[in-house]
Amino acid sequence: MIEVQGTSPLSGTVKIQGSKNAVLPMMAAALLHEGITVFTNVPRIQDVFCMMGILRFIGCVCRLEDHVLSIDATRVLRAEIPEGYMKAMRSSIMMLGALLARQGRALTRYPGGCLIGSRPIDLHIKALRALGAEITEEKGTICARAERLRGAEIHFPYPSVGATENALLAAVLADGTARITGAAKEPEIQELCLLLNQMGGKIQGIGTDCLTVEGVESLSGAVRQVPGDRIVAGTYLAAALACGGKVQLEGVDPRHMGAVVSAFEDCGGHIKAGEGCLAVSASGKPEAFEIVTGPYPDFPTDLQSPAMAVMAAANGKSRIVENVFENRYRTAAELEKMGADIRICGKEALIAGKGPEPGLCGARVTASDLRGGAALVAAGLAAKGTTVIDGCCHIHRGYEDICRDLSSLGARIRDEGGEKGSISSRIGECAGGI
Ligand code: EPZ
Repeated sequence: MIEVQGTSPLSGTVKIQGSKNAVLPMMAAALLHEGITVFTNVPRIQDVFCMMGILRFIGCVCRLEDHVLSIDATRVLRAEIPEGYMKAMRSSIMMLGALLARQGRALTRYPGGCLIGSRPIDLHIKALRALGAEITEEKGTICARAERLRGAEIHFPYPSVGATENALLAAVLADGTARITGAAKEPEIQELCLLLNQMGGKIQGIGTDCLTVEGVESLSGAVRQVPGDRIVAGTYLAAALACGGKVQLEGVDPRHMGAVVSAFEDCGGHIKAGEGCLAVSASGKPEAFEIVTGPYPDFPTDLQSPAMAVMAAANGKSRIVENVFENRYRTAAELEKMGADIRICGKEALIAGKGPEPGLCGARVTASDLRGGAALVAAGLAAKGTTVIDGCCHIHRGYEDICRDLSSLGARIRDEGGEKGSISSRIGECAGGI
């Protein structure tokens, strides 16, 4: 449970943690080298602990100390992943491509993760089949085999982040050359390609929607820094816009935040980009604005809920079009408990902002997914009185310590604990794709 007192402005500097969505596929890639791979700037979040659990289960030795993670994949004994891990997070599906490449087989269940839409894995399966895997799906179990993976033409009708990553992981050690068109271009995909190339892979077209992967015999180890988390940075920008203040975010690449900066400037924030940092100055009286989510470089769906929190506190009528996930408006009902006025019709949400008066008011609310939970924190900072947020296990999946970061900026916020517990109990808590 997190307790937030509004409405004091934020001020100061905060270092942005390493990126969740970059480090998880990087951890899966470590499986492709029969030895040690080291990552620095690794965030201490539940999804990383869960991925470490998977890697340990199949035989890797993982050690995380001071944000440095070493993965020794010299011995991999298993090719199956227990259901608990698969249900705990969506990125567990990354292991399908990695295990096929390393072990020639994989036995997994359908992945869980945040309940933000139907989230099928047909594009993952299609890509791996094109690369020569035989895959059967029965009663929620996925059984994949491949004597030898071989390069092929893969076309994605939609630029799925996870499917592109799975295709890269499987193709990098395949025989021959794979060409992936319609690929996702998110910075996290670019990071995975750069890591694989550092390990000896041959990937071209990085940052474009057409990736060429020339298969190699083996990969070597690498030491690589995980980039700063652009979604965590965007969340803290949203918090500063909602309650005002002057905040400097260190350790994030502003080049990856173009659409976010432009939308947040529309609502009155003054945002300055520097070398690896962003500075925002905001009055705490945001103006109405509009966002349309889409694959990178469009506005990221992961910041849709934090943006909605700003809109709920803004002056005037704002609009969101959510184009990526069909069920990512569950946070609206919680914001309404704080007085927000939100109308949802299909992909579109219309938000009549409460402005400084009457403003949002503190309430007891529940996080139902990771980014939605963070959005409730941002709304709590802008609301009069006390906001209590339950269901914080979702927030811990992706934010190392949101209370530490925001209190270092002067926010009156505390984690009342009670949801911490052991890693395994917390994995259980979020299991079933809550
Ligand atoms: C990644 O999820 C991120 N997760 C998500 O972040 C993010 O919201 C999403 O990309 C979009 O940017 C990680 O990187 C670990 P997709 P992923 O495959 O890979 C449809 C967060 O909060 N689709 O690009 O699961 C799917 O239903 C999380 O950090 C298919 O139809 O996203 C969705 O509508 C949540 N078939 C769209 O594509 C498939 O086989 C985008 O999904 C795969 C996807």
